[in-house]
Amino acid sequence: MSSRKLIVGNWKMHPASAEDAKRIARRARTVAAKLLRTNVVICPPFPFIFAASSRKPAANFRLGAQSVSIEETGAHTGQVSAGMVRSLGAEYAIVGHSEERAAGDTDQIISRKIARILDAGMTAIVCVGDGSRTEDGAHFDHIKNQIRDSLAGIPAEKTSRIVLAYEPIWAIGAKEPMSSADIHETAIFVKKTFADIFGPEAGLKVKVLYGGAVNFRNAAEIIQAGQVDGLLVGHESVNMPGFVELLKAVDHIE
Ligand code: PGA
Repeated sequence: MSSRKLIVGNWKMHPASAEDAKRIARRARTVAAKLLRTNVVICPPFPFIFAASSRKPAANFRLGAQSVSIEETGAHTGQVSAGMVRSLGAEYAIVGHSEERAAGDTDQIISRKIARILDAGMTAIVCVGDGSRTEDGAHFDHIKNQIRDSLAGIPAEKTSRIVLAYEPIWAIGAKEPMSSADIHETAIFVKKTFADIFGPEAGLKVKVLYGGAVNFRNAAEIIQAGQVDGLLVGHESVNMPGFVELLKAVDHIE
């Protein structure tokens, strides 16, 4: 996806119906086709991935899932495999979101999910984030450990299919995002940590997204001043026309 900005819409448990999912996805797809410098990935809930897909290939637009099972197949009631969402057209999957970590996903579980996603030929959007910040900088150790442990065992040749999403937990669903200066500092740290594990070339290439309270008003400023490669957008990604305005604002960045 070269140096184009990457905007990922994490729909979470929205919208209420397949009809609404179809409508929102169609609008996002139509707008994405006109973008010059931006790629868009939308991640609907599992049952709406198909509704959000289209028979015609769509320019600058891809589908993703919000999670996958750690298992490939078998007797796992309620689970959905990476291969299944891939067969519906999903090319990305979010993994390690703080809401899933809060529900019990450890770094070990996340690393197994990443392996499933990569094995299915998809790109993993790996979320990391600190719950609080202190003067002693302990949050940096926390982020470093999450990156190292979540990516344990991932072969270096597959890192081109890893995207990192930094989301400070307190900013998720909040009114205000983290300050752009802090986003910039943390994005550099995330890249540096990745480079320390996988080498300088992988560190230069990896995309780092910011997520947490992103909306159409602050999106462009976060990318420009925060110097991130894109955004992971929650509530605003199912809010039309807000998401459309967000995509246009980001695409205006030279
Ligand atoms: P938000 O969520 O944009 O609604 O803050 C972001 C996320 O959780 O990915």
